[in-house]
Amino acid sequence: MLPSGRVPGTTLNAATTAPGSVRSERSHNVTKVFGVPHEQVVFCHDEATGLKAIIAIYSTALGPALGGTRFYPYESEDEALADVLNLAKGMAYKNALADLDLGGGKAVIIGDPTAIKSEGLLRAYGRFVQSLHGRYFTACDVGTFSEDMDVIARECSYVTGRTVAHGGAGDSSILTAFGVFQGMRAAAEHTWGEPSLRGRRVGVEGVGKVGRRLVEHLVSDGAEVVVTDVTEAAIDRVRAEHPEVQVVDGHAALTGAEIDVYAPCALGGALDDATVETLRAKIVCGGANNQLAHTGIEKQLADRGVLYAPDYVVNSGGVIQVADEIEGFDFDRARQKATGIFDTTRRIFQIAADEGVPPAVAADRLAERRMSEIGRLRGILVGS
Ligand SMILES: NC(=O)c1ccc[n+]([C@@H]2O[C@H](COP(=O)([O-])OP(=O)(O)OC[C@H]3O[C@@H](n4cnc5c(N)ncnc54)[C@H](O)[C@@H]3O)[C@@H](O)[C@H]2O)c1
Repeated sequence: MLPSGRVPGTTLNAATTAPGSVRSERSHNVTKVFGVPHEQVVFCHDEATGLKAIIAIYSTALGPALGGTRFYPYESEDEALADVLNLAKGMAYKNALADLDLGGGKAVIIGDPTAIKSEGLLRAYGRFVQSLHGRYFTACDVGTFSEDMDVIARECSYVTGRTVAHGGAGDSSILTAFGVFQGMRAAAEHTWGEPSLRGRRVGVEGVGKVGRRLVEHLVSDGAEVVVTDVTEAAIDRVRAEHPEVQVVDGHAALTGAEIDVYAPCALGGALDDATVETLRAKIVCGGANNQLAHTGIEKQLADRGVLYAPDYVVNSGGVIQVADEIEGFDFDRARQKATGIFDTTRRIFQIAADEGVPPAVAADRLAERRMSEIGRLRGILVGS
């Protein structure tokens, strides 16, 4: 049963208003859904396959909402709703600053993917996405993979992140890591005057798909790299490729080490009060989503003279990669677009300096400006 007892598969429409605080949205449940600024929230239910999904569209001001489908065993439907509302808003901001003609949305499928994922469930989900007629494009996220997108695409035209064999962009971590590296170059230029990591010591936390590829860029650029990961296999793989990479044991050992740059590439919340207090790095720039543990951390970092490259700006290479599928995937074109992350990050640092705010605030302002200024153009009647 969904939280409000609302009939599954029905749509709640809420007028788009000024963006509200993401944090305050966490406490909302369905009965308060009109208290959030999202345009549309759709509940999808197919009893036979066990599908329970929520699709949230935050904004279509810049175009169809693009964001992945998270397949996760949420403890409650309220928790799933809070997550999807939060993630959809984040995608709107990320897509706006990635210079995409796409709005922001996200979907969650409630349940353990290892237990309930099936062809029938994914195809049922695809039919719900299709029923939105292109207002929402889906992609991979935690618990969903390119092969799943291929299955969803059998019922639905609005799918990205498919396998290369099906015309898809494949593994999005390639351009995610590339984009993080571009953002880090911009941060290096802002801090040391040169857009290079040569001779700098960079600490990478989490050497999975994104972190491992970031290490490659850093080593090629002449950086000294130190890593940590909770998985031995991930460390072994990096050491096999780059024996010169150093390894430390855990978050505190890395963030407390003599490093110039800290690159969180594991889970969210890496920047908490304790970390900010002990951090030795001058720059934070990494691929992980939602790095700031709570509001206010961005100011604490700025007060300590640490330059924070906003996560959703520098990790947008992945969404740039999958969004390119909508035109018919071309890796070189997508890579070229992802190089723009350098200029965007640089511009954010400049706005932050000019307006006397932390870069995270400058990024939000720039994204809101683009959604408002470019979104407004839809009001010009073009005729038929
Ligand atoms: N893959 C993408 O295209 C993409 C795009 C945007 C953002 N991101 C974000 O980047 C981050 C990494 O994504 P990924 O695709 O590389 O995932 P992944 O699962 O391949 O890699 C994550 C790595 O972090 C390690 N890890 C987990 N907890 C850790 C901890 N406490 N300390 C140290 N290491 C830990 C894991 O062992 C794993 O090796 C995630 O936050 C993800 O949301 C990924």
